[in-house]
Amino acid sequence: MDQNQNQNPTPERIMQYFTGSWATAILSAATTHNVFRAIEGGAWTCDEITNKTGLAPRGAQALLDGLTGLGLLTVKSGKYENTAEASTYLVAGKPTYLGNIVKSAVGSFADWAKYPDAVKTGQPICEFNTDTANHPFWAELVTAIAPLSVPIAQAAAQRLGIAKAGACSWLDVGGGSGVYSAVWLAANPKAQATQLDWSNVNEVAKGFVGGWGVGDRFTTIDGDLTKDDWGTAKYDYVVYSHIAHMYAAATNVSNFKKARQALKAGGTLVINDFVVDNDRAGMPFALLFASNMLIQTNDGTTYRDADYHTWLNEAGFREVNVERTPGPATLIYAR
Ligand SMILES: C[S@@+](CC[C@H](N)C(=O)[O-])C[C@H]1O[C@@H](n2cnc3c(N)ncnc32)[C@H](O)[C@@H]1O
Repeated sequence: MDQNQNQNPTPERIMQYFTGSWATAILSAATTHNVFRAIEGGAWTCDEITNKTGLAPRGAQALLDGLTGLGLLTVKSGKYENTAEASTYLVAGKPTYLGNIVKSAVGSFADWAKYPDAVKTGQPICEFNTDTANHPFWAELVTAIAPLSVPIAQAAAQRLGIAKAGACSWLDVGGGSGVYSAVWLAANPKAQATQLDWSNVNEVAKGFVGGWGVGDRFTTIDGDLTKDDWGTAKYDYVVYSHIAHMYAAATNVSNFKKARQALKAGGTLVINDFVVDNDRAGMPFALLFASNMLIQTNDGTTYRDADYHTWLNEAGFREVNVERTPGPATLIYAR
């Protein structure tokens, strides 16, 4: 956070924060009614957008005003256009589309309203427990977050030289949509992928990976990642993406030991997560995400670089590299 903000304070930022739920609802309405897709590629008046989307004229004007206030549309001479950001991330059908995450955020408003209780008790608010097998929450979430993971999976593939790694294999633990397998299998036609996840999520992954045309080299294991064995000296890589933040330190150490055992000699564990700086002063999104884990999980939070170093050393990894990505994610490579 910018400390200089406090030198000449104005109410602007605080007002943005207490209207944060308005922004989520405005974004959600725009994606629900496909407003960004209706506007994409042109400049349109409110009447024209009303006709394209079937919204009420009064509702459309409020929505367009809200989206302009949020900086997602521009308006010139009464005609609205998508900004580059809206065009990239909010037009349904594009591979980078984030609209499904926005909709799920609105669905969790009721839980967030009870956040003060969670802070007081240290207990989660959600009735759903992350350890519940085959919960529909996961199938919906993994589809919604897949577009966020595509560039991270591509960056990891590049860093590891997956395309030139020959007949390699990996285990993606809690692989969700199968996004890492899709991206890595597409990069390397000789590779084989295995994913361990709940059975309902594995069904989603088969569809997703199949959509990339590489489903014939994708195998799934239905099971519980905290309880099941991950194999011995079987894989060149183990992927652990957005899993660590769900668990307490001891569970992560236990999982990293299973990863070490599952890897062939010289194999690499790849971790992707929202990681905070060692003094917990930096990585703004990761700092906010700790509250999401407070309300959703029994023990989860966002961890520091130093935590990963400690746990990975304890699990037998000797070489650990922590690398920030341009987005809120951090990639960690351990050998
Ligand atoms: C936050 S998602 C991450 C998905 C994916 N790795 C990614 O980065 O996009 C967590 C994943 O872990 C899976 N999961 C959670 N608890 C699990 C458990 N006990 N056993 C197996 N899978 C689990 C969920 O089904 C989901 O696919």
